[in-house]
Amino acid sequence: MSKSRLRLVGKNNIESLISNAGKSIPPSGIREFFDIVYSTPDCITLGVGEPDFVTPWRISDTGAFAIREGYTHYTPNRGIPELLNLISSMLYEKNGVEYDSEDELLVTMGVSQGLDIALRSIINPGDEVIIIEPCYVSYAATIELALGKPVAVQTTSNNDFKIDVSRLREAITPKTKAVLLNYPGNPTGQTIDRESLEIIAKIATEKNIIVLSDEIYCSIIYDKEHFSITSVPGMKERTIYLNGFSKAYAMTGWRLGYIAGPSVLISTMLKIHQYTALCAPSMSQYAAVEAIEKADKDVEKMRQEYLKRRNFIVNEFNDMGLNCIMPAGAFYAFPDIKSTGLSSRDFALGLLKAEKVAVVPGEVFGECGQGHIRCSYATAMDDLKEALKRIRRYVNTL
Ligand SMILES: Cc1ncc(COP(=O)(O)O)c(C=O)c1O
Repeated sequence: MSKSRLRLVGKNNIESLISNAGKSIPPSGIREFFDIVYSTPDCITLGVGEPDFVTPWRISDTGAFAIREGYTHYTPNRGIPELLNLISSMLYEKNGVEYDSEDELLVTMGVSQGLDIALRSIINPGDEVIIIEPCYVSYAATIELALGKPVAVQTTSNNDFKIDVSRLREAITPKTKAVLLNYPGNPTGQTIDRESLEIIAKIATEKNIIVLSDEIYCSIIYDKEHFSITSVPGMKERTIYLNGFSKAYAMTGWRLGYIAGPSVLISTMLKIHQYTALCAPSMSQYAAVEAIEKADKDVEKMRQEYLKRRNFIVNEFNDMGLNCIMPAGAFYAFPDIKSTGLSSRDFALGLLKAEKVAVVPGEVFGECGQGHIRCSYATAMDDLKEALKRIRRYVNTL
């Protein structure tokens, strides 16, 4: 056998060793798109889903102090007691739900890892988890990597992307393990009102399914108060509550989040966490203590700034004829571009090429996101104004 033939056989053999789950998940639709963005100079991006603000200084300083003082070791697997106690008090204050910090809480490396271990603690191969589309790009892939099956329930722009609880009920089968909610949501900014959450709670109880509640944007909400499904009587017992520091405190790079839930589930997740991660970063946990104790004003300042930008961007889109619902929270606008006659992907690629503005095609968040684009307004106001000027110019050429 020739040398080159041998090399080929070796390569093919290695490929054949990759897991089916690893092979079958698609690369993130967003990343694929942003490879193009990074090679386009002078591009204004409304694409990234993270605050443009840097972490408030008091938080960063505490993290740096922790490093200087030698808090650079593993922490208890569950998280440092000081932080767990503060999370417990915060959840009681926000949602009126009491979680035992030694039993019902777990500090994670962001909601991303929290969701991963939550799913792996409940899914057997083939179990179904309902997701509400359009939704965060990681949901379906994380479910598949846990060997579960994502089942999408669509929402529609005609109904302002509000969840239709009767569709949710219809999607439940004997294989359904859980429903995964996110409110306020990425990419639409829509939230789920209290009445719908109460109906979902009833359905979950009747059908004996778990609710995974990703409330990562709960502090970035504008016209009404956030209401958590954990506050519905009886729901603490069947909800895995996921939250984190990335969005509210502009701490995406610190990789810190937490899970609250029934102790039987949390203890299973803790086992997976122990073996696969050991603990969340120690310095980030100390920084998070400062965040909870002292950074309310910083969070509010950022929220006020997002609010100004939300009003500006939504107004601009509607004014140029691209119908855009008023997002209840988060920092995304999700205008309808169907009137241009283009698919979201073609619209986004055309805009990038013609005007150097990056947005995310709506279909990466699920089929019903087609005909929309996601624009993050976690972008400085001057850049946002310039981007909207360019988008208007582009739309006028179509
Ligand atoms: C809905 C949603 N959940 C979770 C995450 C990831 O959060 P974290 O940084 O805490 O892993 C994101 C990030 O964009 C998100 O939009």
